[in-house]
Amino acid sequence: MSSDFLFQEWLSVYSARAESALDSLLDSDQTTPKRLHEAMRYAAQGGGKRIRPLLVYAAGALSGEQSTEQIVALDAAAVAIECIHAYSLVHDDLPCMDDDDLRRGRATVHKAYDEATALLVGDALQTRAFEILANARCEADVRLLMISSLADASGSRGMAGGQAIDLESVGKKLDLTGLKQMHAMKTGALLSCAVELGGIAAHLNPAQMTCLKHYSQALGLAFQIVDDVLDVTADSQTLGKTAGKDAANDKPTYVTLMGLDYAKKQSKALQTEAIASLDIFGSKAQALQELALLVVNRSK
Ligand code: IPE
Ligand code: IPE
Ligand code: MG
Ligand code: MG
Ligand code: MG
Repeated sequence: MSSDFLFQEWLSVYSARAESALDSLLDSDQTTPKRLHEAMRYAAQGGGKRIRPLLVYAAGALSGEQSTEQIVALDAAAVAIECIHAYSLVHDDLPCMDDDDLRRGRATVHKAYDEATALLVGDALQTRAFEILANARCEADVRLLMISSLADASGSRGMAGGQAIDLESVGKKLDLTGLKQMHAMKTGALLSCAVELGGIAAHLNPAQMTCLKHYSQALGLAFQIVDDVLDVTADSQTLGKTAGKDAANDKPTYVTLMGLDYAKKQSKALQTEAIASLDIFGSKAQALQELALLVVNRSK
């Protein structure tokens, strides 16, 4: 069996696991208020590559053989981070932000429902994420570290802060340092957190966590560079979201600042850097290595 084939197997097992964990940890659409709970499910389910949950599972496997309880604790982390990500997309698409009608191949939440519901979906998915982590079936100190990591990555020094820089930068030309900082915050922070949550659950030591940090920082930047590239090179049907939106909204991106060729080369260089950071883990890091390839070589 080639290692590629094994990864495909891993991918289908853990993608399915993430879907089913999401399904069981989100409130039913019969919970009052039904419309809000239905819209939360609409936002979080029905599409999405589930890269962040996959990173949680892959990093969570770095300490070797896992018990069923350990994998169940990873389910909580995987769903929590996907809830934050889904909320960030719902708000990112609002008219006051990127004003997008299409997400994951269907109408954005404010189009399928309404703007007030989209705001509340974001609010409620965010708090649900922390509730899920607080109730995760693992040691209290692990839960606390995970909650702290997710709060830091989601807030004003992480994703929300990066989104603020993104909005402030419309029509402006950021320099490369500023652009990297925006990307690291709006996108890199949550991707890094996904990896960190897995590492925390796996009880990795500080030296191992440092290597993981190098991996995830390189991967996080690569992820947003590829997102910027695909906005220019792919079509809306493939992406499941509106292509050409960055230019239409006059956003500074890696492509507008550095050009398409440089952006593509840089994403490959970061992929190599990310994979090299995993050396100390040997074959236990195979899924993380493959995920780095997937993130940079993806077509949507
Ligand atoms: C899109 O993220 C938003 C960014 C942070 C660039 P993804 O490309 O992971 O979106 P889904 O979850 O697959 O829809
Ligand atoms: C979004 O960046 C980052 C988030 C925190 C959601 P983009 O605005 O480029 O994401 P897409 O292209 O709409 O998915
Ligand atoms: Mg945006
Ligand atoms: Mg957007
Ligand atoms: Mg984009």
